[in-house]
Amino acid sequence: MNKQLEKFIQLKFEKNASALDLGAGDFEDVNFLNRAGWKCEGVDLKTGVNLEKPYFSKSAPFDLVFSNYTLHKISNKEVFIKTAYNNLKKNGWLFIHTFDKSDENSNSDLDEKRVSALLVSRFKNIKVVIIDIFDEEEGHKHWHKVLEVTAQKND
Ligand SMILES: C[S@@+](CC[C@H](N)C(=O)[O-])C[C@H]1O[C@@H](n2cnc3c(N)ncnc32)[C@H](O)[C@@H]1O
Repeated sequence: MNKQLEKFIQLKFEKNASALDLGAGDFEDVNFLNRAGWKCEGVDLKTGVNLEKPYFSKSAPFDLVFSNYTLHKISNKEVFIKTAYNNLKKNGWLFIHTFDKSDENSNSDLDEKRVSALLVSRFKNIKVVIIDIFDEEEGHKHWHKVLEVTAQKND
């Protein structure tokens, strides 16, 4: 489970709620949250959902939409952020981890300014910070410059 997301959830949610993972990969975070009592679902290219195009879940709206290490791969970032917005409840939370353009181990073109500009018209309480995260995966074993984005859907 993404440690920073786990902490964010502890901080913002008093009880179990609903969540959508955009770019869920192997569904590790989705499964973790469901085991903890959340109602969580995920979508990914691997399960037939292309997030370059608008996506709306039958279970929407959610209390939390999160997306880890996927946004930097998406060309149509406006559409992706609009999908996050459309699947959220009013005042629902968005959490994103993606690579900063200063990261030497990925080819992201994102930075704090660009991500903030994508969010500003639809979200409030926008916070974008760069954090250092060590990639433990076998064959990786290096540091990443990660953009951590949190924001709340406008009411
Ligand atoms: C590095 S993995 C991250 C997986 C997971 N979120 C995590 O934190 O471990 C990136 C994921 O983004 C998905 N992805 C990339 N482009 C996508 C697209 N256009 N639509 C949906 N998913 C996409 C990939 O299939 C992959 O599972």
